[in-house]
Amino acid sequence: MTIIGIDKMSFFSPHQYIDMVELANARGEEPNKYLIGIGQTEQAVIPATQDVVTMAANAADEMLTASDRKKITMILFATESGIDNSKSGAVYLQRLLGINPYARTIELKQACYAGTFALMQARDYVTLHPDEKVLVVASDIARYGLQTSGEVTQGGGAVAMLVAANPMIAEINQDSQFLSRDIMDFWRPVYADTARVDGKYSSNVYQDFFKTVWTRYKAKTGRDIADFKALAFHLPFTKMGLKALRDVLPEATDEQQVALMDEFEASRVYNKRIGNLYTGSLYLSLYSLLDNSQSLKAGDRIGMFSYGSGAEGEFYSLTLRPHFSAGLVTGQIDTLLANRQYVTIADYEKIFNSQLKGAADREFDFKSDPAKFVLHGLKNEQRQYICN
Ligand code: HMG
Repeated sequence: MTIIGIDKMSFFSPHQYIDMVELANARGEEPNKYLIGIGQTEQAVIPATQDVVTMAANAADEMLTASDRKKITMILFATESGIDNSKSGAVYLQRLLGINPYARTIELKQACYAGTFALMQARDYVTLHPDEKVLVVASDIARYGLQTSGEVTQGGGAVAMLVAANPMIAEINQDSQFLSRDIMDFWRPVYADTARVDGKYSSNVYQDFFKTVWTRYKAKTGRDIADFKALAFHLPFTKMGLKALRDVLPEATDEQQVALMDEFEASRVYNKRIGNLYTGSLYLSLYSLLDNSQSLKAGDRIGMFSYGSGAEGEFYSLTLRPHFSAGLVTGQIDTLLANRQYVTIADYEKIFNSQLKGAADREFDFKSDPAKFVLHGLKNEQRQYICN
Protein backbone atom coordinates (compact mmCIF):
# COMPACT_ATOMS: atom_id res chain seq x y z
CA MET A 1 0.00 0.00 0.00
CA THR A 2 1.21 3.50 -0.78
CA ILE A 3 2.42 5.41 2.26
CA ILE A 4 0.88 8.87 2.70
CA GLY A 5 2.17 11.53 5.04
CA ILE A 6 4.15 14.69 5.67
CA ASP A 7 6.70 15.12 2.91
CA LYS A 8 8.15 18.50 3.91
CA MET A 9 7.78 21.06 6.70
CA SER A 10 8.74 24.70 6.94
CA PHE A 11 8.30 27.43 9.54
CA PHE A 12 8.14 31.21 9.70
CA SER A 13 7.80 33.72 12.50
CA PRO A 14 8.51 37.48 12.28
CA HIS A 15 11.88 39.10 12.90
CA GLN A 16 11.33 40.56 16.37
CA TYR A 17 11.03 39.17 19.91
CA ILE A 18 10.79 40.14 23.56
CA ASP A 19 12.52 38.57 26.54
CA MET A 20 10.28 36.93 29.16
CA VAL A 21 12.43 38.09 32.09
CA GLU A 22 11.89 41.67 30.94
CA LEU A 23 8.16 41.09 30.50
CA ALA A 24 7.99 39.60 34.01
CA ASN A 25 9.83 42.60 35.46
CA ALA A 26 7.55 45.02 33.60
CA ARG A 27 4.45 43.21 34.90
CA GLY A 28 5.67 42.88 38.50
CA GLU A 29 5.95 39.09 38.31
CA GLU A 30 8.73 36.80 39.53
CA PRO A 31 10.78 35.89 36.36
CA ASN A 32 10.77 32.18 37.28
CA LYS A 33 7.00 32.17 37.05
CA TYR A 34 7.35 32.88 33.32
CA LEU A 35 10.56 30.88 32.73
CA ILE A 36 9.62 27.77 34.75
CA GLY A 37 5.97 28.05 35.81
CA ILE A 38 4.86 28.89 32.25
CA GLY A 39 7.95 27.55 30.47
CA GLN A 40 8.59 30.43 28.07
CA THR A 41 11.88 32.34 27.57
CA GLU A 42 11.12 34.60 24.59
CA GLN A 43 8.06 35.62 22.58
CA ALA A 44 7.63 36.49 18.91
CA VAL A 45 6.46 40.06 18.29
CA ILE A 46 4.25 40.46 15.23
CA PRO A 47 4.71 43.74 13.32
CA ALA A 48 1.86 45.40 11.44
CA THR A 49 3.53 44.23 8.19
CA GLN A 50 2.81 40.55 8.97
CA ASP A 51 -0.52 38.74 9.18
CA VAL A 52 -1.58 35.11 8.84
CA VAL A 53 -1.39 35.29 5.04
CA THR A 54 2.13 36.71 4.82
CA MET A 55 3.40 34.38 7.56
CA ALA A 56 1.92 31.36 5.77
CA ALA A 57 3.40 32.50 2.45
CA ASN A 58 6.82 33.06 4.03
CA ALA A 59 6.73 29.59 5.60
CA ALA A 60 5.53 27.67 2.54
CA ASP A 61 7.69 29.48 -0.01
CA GLU A 62 10.93 28.17 1.52
CA MET A 63 10.00 24.52 1.04
CA LEU A 64 8.14 24.43 -2.28
CA THR A 65 9.87 23.56 -5.55
CA ALA A 66 8.47 24.59 -8.94
CA SER A 67 7.29 21.00 -9.40
CA ASP A 68 5.47 21.03 -6.00
CA ARG A 69 3.66 24.24 -7.02
CA LYS A 70 2.39 22.50 -10.16
CA LYS A 71 1.33 19.34 -8.35
CA ILE A 72 -0.57 20.96 -5.47
CA THR A 73 -4.30 20.60 -6.12
CA MET A 74 -5.55 21.73 -2.72
CA ILE A 75 -4.53 24.39 -0.19
CA LEU A 76 -5.93 23.97 3.32
CA PHE A 77 -5.43 27.09 5.44
CA ALA A 78 -5.97 26.51 9.17
CA THR A 79 -6.30 29.64 11.30
CA GLU A 80 -8.34 31.26 14.04
CA SER A 81 -6.95 34.74 13.38
CA GLY A 82 -8.02 35.05 9.74
CA ILE A 83 -8.08 38.41 7.98
CA ASP A 84 -11.50 38.25 6.33
CA ASN A 85 -14.88 36.90 7.38
CA SER A 86 -15.62 35.75 3.85
CA LYS A 87 -12.55 35.18 1.69
CA SER A 88 -10.17 32.37 2.57
CA GLY A 89 -6.50 33.03 3.31
CA ALA A 90 -5.72 30.11 0.99
CA VAL A 91 -6.78 32.07 -2.12
CA TYR A 92 -4.23 34.80 -1.40
CA LEU A 93 -1.65 32.11 -0.82
CA GLN A 94 -2.33 30.46 -4.15
CA ARG A 95 -1.49 33.73 -5.96
CA LEU A 96 1.44 34.80 -3.77
CA LEU A 97 3.12 31.40 -4.12
CA GLY A 98 2.34 30.85 -7.81
CA ILE A 99 0.52 27.59 -7.11
CA ASN A 100 -1.40 25.77 -9.83
CA PRO A 101 -4.63 27.75 -10.46
CA TYR A 102 -6.58 24.49 -10.77
CA ALA A 103 -6.26 23.96 -7.04
CA ARG A 104 -9.00 24.11 -4.41
CA THR A 105 -8.46 26.75 -1.72
CA ILE A 106 -10.23 26.79 1.63
CA GLU A 107 -9.87 28.06 5.21
CA LEU A 108 -10.63 25.93 8.28
CA LYS A 109 -11.43 26.98 11.86
CA GLN A 110 -11.76 25.25 15.22
CA ALA A 111 -9.38 27.11 17.53
CA CYS A 112 -5.94 25.46 17.67
CA TYR A 113 -7.29 22.14 16.38
CA ALA A 114 -7.87 23.11 12.72
CA GLY A 115 -4.30 22.35 11.61
CA THR A 116 -4.75 18.73 12.63
CA PHE A 117 -8.09 18.45 10.87
CA ALA A 118 -6.49 19.92 7.73
CA LEU A 119 -3.68 17.38 7.91
CA MET A 120 -6.13 14.48 8.20
CA GLN A 121 -8.19 15.76 5.26
CA ALA A 122 -5.01 16.14 3.22
CA ARG A 123 -3.94 12.57 4.01
CA ASP A 124 -7.34 11.17 3.04
CA TYR A 125 -7.38 13.18 -0.20
CA VAL A 126 -3.89 12.08 -1.23
CA THR A 127 -4.81 8.47 -0.38
CA LEU A 128 -7.45 8.73 -3.12
CA HIS A 129 -5.27 10.84 -5.45
CA PRO A 130 -1.67 9.69 -4.87
CA ASP A 131 -0.23 11.68 -7.78
CA GLU A 132 -1.39 14.98 -6.29
CA LYS A 133 -0.06 17.02 -3.37
CA VAL A 134 -1.86 19.07 -0.71
CA LEU A 135 -0.42 22.16 0.97
CA VAL A 136 -1.49 22.51 4.62
CA VAL A 137 -0.68 25.73 6.45
CA ALA A 138 -1.37 26.51 10.10
CA SER A 139 -0.91 30.23 10.69
CA ASP A 140 -1.93 32.36 13.66
CA ILE A 141 -1.27 35.35 15.88
CA ALA A 142 -2.03 34.68 19.57
CA ARG A 143 -3.26 37.89 21.23
CA TYR A 144 -4.67 38.23 24.74
CA GLY A 145 -3.88 41.89 25.34
CA LEU A 146 -1.28 43.93 27.21
CA GLN A 147 -1.13 43.35 30.96
CA THR A 148 -3.46 40.34 30.91
CA SER A 149 -2.57 36.99 32.51
CA GLY A 150 -2.57 35.47 29.01
CA GLU A 151 0.04 37.97 27.75
CA VAL A 152 2.97 35.66 28.60
CA THR A 153 1.37 33.02 26.35
CA GLN A 154 1.12 35.19 23.21
CA GLY A 155 3.19 34.62 20.06
CA GLY A 156 2.69 33.94 16.38
CA GLY A 157 3.94 32.22 13.28
CA ALA A 158 3.10 29.69 10.61
CA VAL A 159 3.94 26.08 9.86
CA ALA A 160 3.59 24.80 6.30
CA MET A 161 3.39 21.09 5.50
CA LEU A 162 3.30 19.33 2.17
CA VAL A 163 1.27 16.12 2.21
CA ALA A 164 2.18 13.57 -0.44
CA ALA A 165 2.60 9.89 -1.28
CA ASN A 166 5.95 8.32 -0.27
CA PRO A 167 6.70 11.25 2.05
CA MET A 168 10.14 12.17 3.35
CA ILE A 169 9.21 12.96 6.98
CA ALA A 170 6.49 10.71 8.36
CA GLU A 171 3.54 8.49 7.59
CA ILE A 172 0.28 9.81 9.08
CA ASN A 173 -1.27 6.68 10.59
CA GLN A 174 -5.00 5.95 10.42
CA ASP A 175 -5.38 5.70 14.20
CA SER A 176 -6.92 8.99 15.36
CA GLN A 177 -9.11 9.15 18.43
CA PHE A 178 -10.98 12.40 18.98
CA LEU A 179 -13.42 14.14 21.28
CA SER A 180 -15.57 17.30 20.97
CA ARG A 181 -17.45 19.07 23.74
CA ASP A 182 -19.21 22.47 23.68
CA ILE A 183 -17.47 24.44 26.43
CA MET A 184 -16.28 28.02 26.97
CA ASP A 185 -12.63 27.83 28.00
CA PHE A 186 -11.31 30.21 25.32
CA TRP A 187 -13.07 32.07 22.51
CA ARG A 188 -12.92 35.28 20.47
CA PRO A 189 -16.18 37.00 19.50
CA VAL A 190 -16.23 38.33 15.90
CA TYR A 191 -15.96 41.94 17.12
CA ALA A 192 -12.86 41.27 19.26
CA ASP A 193 -9.21 41.14 18.26
CA THR A 194 -8.02 39.62 21.53
CA ALA A 195 -9.02 36.25 22.98
CA ARG A 196 -11.36 35.79 25.94
CA VAL A 197 -10.14 33.02 28.21
CA ASP A 198 -10.88 31.22 31.45
CA GLY A 199 -7.20 30.36 31.88
CA LYS A 200 -7.17 27.80 34.71
CA TYR A 201 -10.29 26.09 33.38
CA SER A 202 -8.75 25.89 29.89
CA SER A 203 -5.65 24.17 31.29
CA ASN A 204 -7.78 21.67 33.21
CA VAL A 205 -9.91 20.92 30.15
CA TYR A 206 -6.77 20.43 28.03
CA GLN A 207 -5.47 17.80 30.48
CA ASP A 208 -8.88 16.16 30.74
CA PHE A 209 -9.16 15.91 26.93
CA PHE A 210 -5.66 14.48 26.69
CA LYS A 211 -6.32 11.77 29.27
CA THR A 212 -9.67 10.90 27.65
CA VAL A 213 -8.38 10.52 24.07
CA TRP A 214 -5.22 8.76 25.24
CA THR A 215 -7.26 6.18 27.19
CA ARG A 216 -9.54 5.68 24.21
CA TYR A 217 -6.56 5.40 21.86
CA LYS A 218 -5.05 2.61 23.97
CA ALA A 219 -8.37 0.76 24.15
CA LYS A 220 -9.03 1.02 20.39
CA THR A 221 -5.50 0.23 19.13
CA GLY A 222 -4.15 -2.10 21.81
CA ARG A 223 -1.00 0.07 21.98
CA ASP A 224 0.47 1.50 25.15
CA ILE A 225 3.14 3.97 26.18
CA ALA A 226 5.92 1.49 25.35
CA ASP A 227 4.99 1.80 21.65
CA PHE A 228 5.98 5.48 21.55
CA LYS A 229 9.47 6.94 21.19
CA ALA A 230 8.16 10.45 21.83
CA LEU A 231 4.94 12.36 22.51
CA ALA A 232 4.38 15.80 21.00
CA PHE A 233 1.74 18.17 22.37
CA HIS A 234 -0.11 21.30 21.42
CA LEU A 235 1.98 23.84 23.35
CA PRO A 236 0.04 27.03 24.20
CA PHE A 237 2.93 27.47 26.67
CA THR A 238 5.47 24.72 27.15
CA LYS A 239 4.60 23.88 30.77
CA MET A 240 1.17 22.79 29.48
CA GLY A 241 2.70 19.90 27.53
CA LEU A 242 4.82 18.96 30.53
CA LYS A 243 1.70 18.70 32.69
CA ALA A 244 0.06 16.40 30.13
CA LEU A 245 3.21 14.29 29.77
CA ARG A 246 3.39 13.88 33.55
CA ASP A 247 -0.13 12.45 33.44
CA VAL A 248 1.09 9.43 31.43
CA LEU A 249 4.70 9.03 32.60
CA PRO A 250 3.74 6.69 35.48
CA GLU A 251 2.63 4.19 32.79
CA ALA A 252 6.23 3.96 31.49
CA THR A 253 9.28 2.13 32.87
CA ASP A 254 11.91 4.27 34.65
CA GLU A 255 14.19 4.05 31.63
CA GLN A 256 11.45 5.07 29.21
CA GLN A 257 10.40 7.94 31.46
CA VAL A 258 13.88 9.44 31.10
CA ALA A 259 13.80 8.93 27.32
CA LEU A 260 10.33 10.52 26.99
CA MET A 261 11.42 13.51 29.10
CA ASP A 262 14.50 13.97 26.89
CA GLU A 263 12.34 13.92 23.77
CA PHE A 264 9.90 16.34 25.38
CA GLU A 265 12.74 18.79 26.05
CA ALA A 266 13.72 18.51 22.37
CA SER A 267 10.10 19.15 21.36
CA ARG A 268 9.85 22.45 23.21
CA VAL A 269 13.15 24.15 22.27
CA TYR A 270 11.55 26.31 19.57
CA ASN A 271 8.14 26.83 21.21
CA LYS A 272 9.83 28.30 24.30
CA ARG A 273 11.22 31.07 22.10
CA ILE A 274 8.22 31.70 19.82
CA GLY A 275 5.20 31.41 22.14
CA ASN A 276 1.78 30.17 21.17
CA LEU A 277 0.95 30.04 17.47
CA TYR A 278 -2.41 28.37 18.01
CA THR A 279 -3.01 26.04 14.99
CA GLY A 280 0.71 25.68 14.33
CA SER A 281 1.90 25.03 17.91
CA LEU A 282 1.77 21.22 17.80
CA TYR A 283 3.54 21.25 14.44
CA LEU A 284 6.26 23.65 15.58
CA SER A 285 6.76 21.24 18.47
CA LEU A 286 7.04 18.33 16.03
CA TYR A 287 9.58 20.34 14.00
CA SER A 288 11.49 21.10 17.20
CA LEU A 289 11.51 17.41 18.14
CA LEU A 290 12.76 16.30 14.73
CA ASP A 291 15.45 18.99 14.65
CA ASN A 292 16.68 18.66 18.24
CA SER A 293 16.25 15.00 19.23
CA GLN A 294 19.49 13.06 19.56
CA SER A 295 17.97 9.62 19.26
CA LEU A 296 14.97 9.43 16.93
CA LYS A 297 15.31 7.06 13.99
CA ALA A 298 13.33 5.64 11.06
CA GLY A 299 10.33 3.56 12.09
CA ASP A 300 9.87 5.33 15.46
CA ARG A 301 6.28 6.08 16.41
CA ILE A 302 5.50 9.60 17.66
CA GLY A 303 2.26 10.31 19.54
CA MET A 304 0.60 13.61 18.63
CA PHE A 305 -1.90 15.39 20.89
CA SER A 306 -3.85 18.22 19.29
CA TYR A 307 -6.15 20.46 21.33
CA GLY A 308 -8.37 23.34 20.28
CA SER A 309 -10.42 25.24 22.81
CA GLY A 310 -14.14 25.20 22.57
CA ALA A 311 -13.22 22.25 22.55
CA GLU A 312 -11.82 19.48 20.42
CA GLY A 313 -8.96 17.06 21.07
CA GLU A 314 -7.32 14.39 18.94
CA PHE A 315 -4.59 11.84 19.54
CA TYR A 316 -2.91 10.10 16.60
CA SER A 317 0.49 8.80 15.63
CA LEU A 318 3.16 9.40 13.01
CA THR A 319 5.77 6.86 11.91
CA LEU A 320 9.12 8.33 10.96
CA ARG A 321 10.47 7.67 7.46
CA PRO A 322 14.09 6.70 6.67
CA HIS A 323 15.33 10.19 5.71
CA PHE A 324 12.99 12.30 7.82
CA SER A 325 15.51 15.12 8.42
CA ALA A 326 15.70 15.73 4.67
CA GLY A 327 12.09 16.95 4.72
CA LEU A 328 12.99 19.95 6.90
CA VAL A 329 14.60 23.12 5.55
CA THR A 330 18.20 22.74 6.79
CA GLY A 331 19.08 25.11 9.66
CA GLN A 332 15.92 27.11 9.04
CA ILE A 333 14.75 27.81 12.57
CA ASP A 334 18.21 28.28 14.10
CA THR A 335 18.91 30.91 11.43
CA LEU A 336 15.54 32.57 11.95
CA LEU A 337 16.07 32.76 15.73
CA ALA A 338 19.68 33.94 15.39
CA ASN A 339 18.62 36.80 13.10
CA ARG A 340 15.71 38.04 15.20
CA GLN A 341 15.89 41.53 16.61
CA TYR A 342 15.34 42.12 20.30
CA VAL A 343 12.76 44.79 21.18
CA THR A 344 12.12 46.47 24.52
CA ILE A 345 8.80 46.03 26.32
CA ALA A 346 7.94 49.67 25.59
CA ASP A 347 8.53 49.12 21.85
CA TYR A 348 6.61 45.83 21.89
CA GLU A 349 3.63 47.67 23.40
CA LYS A 350 3.72 50.22 20.57
CA ILE A 351 4.00 47.45 17.95
CA PHE A 352 1.17 45.52 19.60
CA ASN A 353 -1.09 48.57 19.35
CA SER A 354 -0.12 49.23 15.73
CA GLN A 355 -1.68 45.98 14.45
CA LEU A 356 -4.08 46.64 11.60
CA LYS A 357 -7.49 47.76 12.84
CA GLY A 358 -10.31 49.66 11.14
CA ALA A 359 -10.96 50.40 7.49
CA ALA A 360 -8.93 53.55 6.82
CA ASP A 361 -6.43 53.48 3.95
CA ARG A 362 -2.84 53.41 5.17
CA GLU A 363 0.69 52.28 4.35
CA PHE A 364 3.12 50.50 6.62
CA ASP A 365 6.87 50.80 6.90
CA PHE A 366 7.32 47.54 5.02
CA LYS A 367 11.01 48.21 4.24
CA SER A 368 11.86 47.62 7.90
CA ASP A 369 10.51 44.06 7.61
CA PRO A 370 13.12 41.69 6.10
CA ALA A 371 10.57 38.98 5.21
CA LYS A 372 9.92 38.10 1.58
CA PHE A 373 6.13 38.55 1.78
CA VAL A 374 4.83 41.59 3.65
CA LEU A 375 1.60 43.52 4.14
CA HIS A 376 2.18 46.88 2.49
CA GLY A 377 -1.03 48.49 3.72
CA LEU A 378 -4.76 48.85 3.20
CA LYS A 379 -6.43 50.44 0.15
CA ASN A 380 -10.20 50.52 -0.40
CA GLU A 381 -10.50 48.02 2.46
CA GLN A 382 -8.30 45.57 0.54
CA ARG A 383 -5.06 44.25 1.94
CA GLN A 384 -2.04 45.07 -0.22
CA TYR A 385 0.49 42.25 -0.16
CA ILE A 386 3.87 42.57 -1.79
CA CYS A 387 6.87 40.38 -2.37
CA ASN A 388 10.03 42.17 -1.15
P1 HMG B 1 -1.61 32.82 35.91
O1 HMG B 1 -2.81 32.86 36.76
O2 HMG B 1 -0.91 34.11 35.69
O3 HMG B 1 -0.50 31.84 36.44
O4 HMG B 1 -2.05 32.22 34.51
P2 HMG B 1 -0.50 30.86 37.70
O5 HMG B 1 -0.60 31.66 38.94
O6 HMG B 1 -1.43 29.72 37.49
O7 HMG B 1 1.00 30.33 37.59
C1 HMG B 1 1.41 29.59 36.50
C2 HMG B 1 2.38 28.53 36.98
O8 HMG B 1 3.58 29.18 37.41
C3 HMG B 1 1.88 27.71 38.18
O9 HMG B 1 2.33 26.38 37.98
C4 HMG B 1 2.64 28.34 39.34
O10 HMG B 1 2.81 27.44 40.45
C5 HMG B 1 3.96 28.65 38.68
P3 HMG B 1 1.26 25.17 37.86
O11 HMG B 1 0.49 25.15 39.12
O12 HMG B 1 0.37 25.54 36.69
O13 HMG B 1 2.10 23.98 37.62
N1 HMG B 1 4.77 29.66 39.38
C6 HMG B 1 6.11 29.57 39.52
N2 HMG B 1 6.99 28.61 39.15
C7 HMG B 1 8.32 28.81 39.44
N3 HMG B 1 8.76 29.90 40.10
C8 HMG B 1 7.92 30.88 40.50
C9 HMG B 1 6.53 30.73 40.22
N4 HMG B 1 5.42 31.49 40.44
C10 HMG B 1 4.35 30.83 39.93
N5 HMG B 1 8.39 31.96 41.14
C11 HMG B 1 -2.35 30.88 32.56
C12 HMG B 1 -1.44 31.19 33.76
C13 HMG B 1 -1.69 29.81 31.71
C14 HMG B 1 -3.71 30.39 33.07
C15 HMG B 1 -2.54 32.20 31.72
O14 HMG B 1 -1.29 32.60 31.20
C16 HMG B 1 -3.54 32.05 30.59
O15 HMG B 1 -4.73 32.23 30.77
N6 HMG B 1 -3.04 31.74 29.35
C17 HMG B 1 -3.94 31.57 28.18
C18 HMG B 1 -4.75 30.30 28.23
C19 HMG B 1 -3.97 29.06 27.89
O16 HMG B 1 -2.90 29.09 27.32
N7 HMG B 1 -4.55 27.89 28.21
C20 HMG B 1 -3.92 26.61 27.90
C21 HMG B 1 -4.92 25.48 27.68
S1 HMG B 1 -6.13 25.93 26.47
C22 HMG B 1 -5.31 25.72 24.94
O17 HMG B 1 -4.26 25.15 24.88
C23 HMG B 1 -5.95 26.33 23.73
C24 HMG B 1 -5.35 27.64 23.26
O18 HMG B 1 -4.11 27.40 22.61
C25 HMG B 1 -6.32 28.38 22.33
C26 HMG B 1 -6.94 27.65 21.16
O19 HMG B 1 -7.25 26.47 21.19
O20 HMG B 1 -7.20 28.34 20.17
C27 HMG B 1 -5.06 28.59 24.41
